[in-house]
Amino acid sequence: MALVFEKPSTRTRLSFEVGVRELGGNPIVLRGDEMQLSRGESPRDTALILSRFVHAIGIRTFEDELVEELAEYASVPVINMLTAGHHPCQALADLQTIRERFGALEGLKLAYVGDGNNVANSLMLLGTKAGMQVAVASPAEFAPDPEIVARAGDVLVTQDPAEAADGAHVLYTDVWVSMGDEADADRRRSLLGAYRLDEALLARARPDAIVLHCLPAHPGDEITEELLYGERSAVWDQAENRLHAQKALLELLVTSRPRNLPASG
Ligand code: CP
Ligand code: NVA
Repeated sequence: MALVFEKPSTRTRLSFEVGVRELGGNPIVLRGDEMQLSRGESPRDTALILSRFVHAIGIRTFEDELVEELAEYASVPVINMLTAGHHPCQALADLQTIRERFGALEGLKLAYVGDGNNVANSLMLLGTKAGMQVAVASPAEFAPDPEIVARAGDVLVTQDPAEAADGAHVLYTDVWVSMGDEADADRRRSLLGAYRLDEALLARARPDAIVLHCLPAHPGDEITEELLYGERSAVWDQAENRLHAQKALLELLVTSRPRNLPASG
């Protein structure tokens, strides 16, 4: 499996590398800036070439359109390992973690508090598909993409973290400044300051609520240290589940699937 990284990663890289090895495959990590893609080779040609050498392609990049173009021309599965718009593999591990804790997903309330970013988008799309109620609390300027909200369907979008957290089974947050958003870091920090997972917010959730964060965390910013390391935190299981969820995904997409014919161009 080719694992193309145009952004940093700890968990995604480790979980894919380890997962592919555990399934008996060979992961090949490719840094975007070491590929001809960075010198203008087209996504189409990159997809055709990679398809001749590997059985699956994972890519972490900026633009969603690049992943879509690779997928259009590749003859092997292309997996989004995080883009500006989505982080689907993270959401798979998140749902696995929630199901481990509550036994089922249907009818549970997930409250995401913070930047309406890629992680929020994937949680809205996958959470609602799994029958969960998803609420997203963000400042207006960093609210989730209305098109994704509409696609997800039954999502509560609010500017009030308390409204989102009320009666929630899961409280979730992510960084205030995502990779690629560094230019407006100061504005994000000032507007997102009121969107922190803390004890007061946890008190609004159900007594058995769990706390999730996709990591990397910035204790004191989007989550307090008490919650991150506290007894309601399922964050470390959540991180480990990246491995298990992705192995299941690879089993579905690659291992149990007939090999494709080579791409013709
Ligand atoms: N949660 C997540 O995707 O972590 P990494 O950026 O370390 O891969
Ligand atoms: N929203 C974050 C997630 C990191 C795993 C980012 O895109 O940087």
